[in-house]
Amino acid sequence: MKVLIVGSGGREHAIAMSVAKSPKAEKIYCAPGNAGITGVAECVPIAAMDFDGIVSFCKEKQIDLVVVGMDDPLVGGLVDRLDEAGIRAFGPRKNAAILEGSKAFSKDLMKKYNIPTAAYETFDSADAALDYLRNKAEFPIVLKADGLALGKGVLICGDLAEAEEGVKTIMQDRKFGDAGNKLVIEEFMTGREVSVLSFVDGKTIKIMSSAQDHKRAGDGDTGLNTGGMGNFSPSPFYTAEVDEFCRKYIYQATVDAMAAEGRPFKGVIFFGLMLTPKGPRVLEYNARFGDPEAQVVLPRMKNDFIEVAESCIDGTLDKVNLEFEDNAAVCVILASNGYPVSYEKGFPISGLESFEGKNDYFCFHAGTKFDESGRIVTNGGRVLGITALGSNLREARSKAYEATEWVSFDNKYMRHDIGKAIDEA
Ligand code: AMP
Ligand code: GLY
Repeated sequence: MKVLIVGSGGREHAIAMSVAKSPKAEKIYCAPGNAGITGVAECVPIAAMDFDGIVSFCKEKQIDLVVVGMDDPLVGGLVDRLDEAGIRAFGPRKNAAILEGSKAFSKDLMKKYNIPTAAYETFDSADAALDYLRNKAEFPIVLKADGLALGKGVLICGDLAEAEEGVKTIMQDRKFGDAGNKLVIEEFMTGREVSVLSFVDGKTIKIMSSAQDHKRAGDGDTGLNTGGMGNFSPSPFYTAEVDEFCRKYIYQATVDAMAAEGRPFKGVIFFGLMLTPKGPRVLEYNARFGDPEAQVVLPRMKNDFIEVAESCIDGTLDKVNLEFEDNAAVCVILASNGYPVSYEKGFPISGLESFEGKNDYFCFHAGTKFDESGRIVTNGGRVLGITALGSNLREARSKAYEATEWVSFDNKYMRHDIGKAIDEA
């Protein structure tokens, strides 16, 4: 089969490596990809939002399967466009990707179908939001821009002054653009966070092994929220009891709710869960693999990626026995110092060859590119996702941190406490 992967981050590198393991994969392309992805796929310079470009490329190359990794093209309707052109695509259509694309939509869905989540109100004017905050709110409180904001549209406000500032940022200064047309104001919850990814075929859902992300930029969960600074899988806090609760009240309930709304979901649903003292609650849904969750979950998956993706498209996921290795993975992100605010790019990266021929270490590329002289240089905030497999989390963590030393570039930055939580388990 000829497969096209759409996206350019560490997640798409992990997807490409997973697809490459399938005996069915004859040729893999990635649009637009990055320097590391060229090791497994032919990267083509078509932007992920260039739907016309992607459709005509698929026709020209007779692509058999498209895997859309990123949220923006999914929410924008790339899968619909591919479907209309008769090209098979793995990922939700636009009317289902709204599960991630609009927080107001997902909150209303959860309320309507009794799926456990934080209490909330939705506002479409700053005045109404401010009125609510001044008269009815309890602090801390959480403000969320309705639309996509690179994981940065969530503000946790300790008091009224911070919340007023937050409303200004999202709705008046429009820092996240149209994503701030509506605002969700939500109850603040406490607890440990777990990411659970799943495959869905419209009616059946199969759960992947759990993961735990580290969203804040600095050690000890300090600093700004980022796309994710590293993670590990499985999460020892995702116990059998938690799993049972989520299967009963969250996973199938979400899939059934989407189907009942006439928005059958096919693809990956990412459940961002918080394990609160009152039980698991949904923090958010994403309509795709997490980044870097894909980098710790996919290397542990035993199944053929293409077979699972096709079963989601064909509605035959119930026939698939989804299996994961009984091991663990840890991913440490090497970022550019200054991420997520401002940082320099274009520094040469050395040591990448250390990963060659090792099958329990992975160097997933995120922000990298080739410069004019053919060297691999830094090209983003998150640069590399250094991942190691181990027989348990501690072993995987020490291997991952050891491998972070193999690579160097100017302004290299990482957190030193990825997976520290496992010592508390
Ligand atoms: P989200 O993009 O909705 O996952 O939010 C980003 C991060 O903000 C989450 O991973 C949590 O750490 C935090 N967060 C979101 N919603 C809440 C909430 N209701 N209570 C406490 N923290 C939250
Ligand atoms: N790592 C969180 C996300 O992909 O949204």
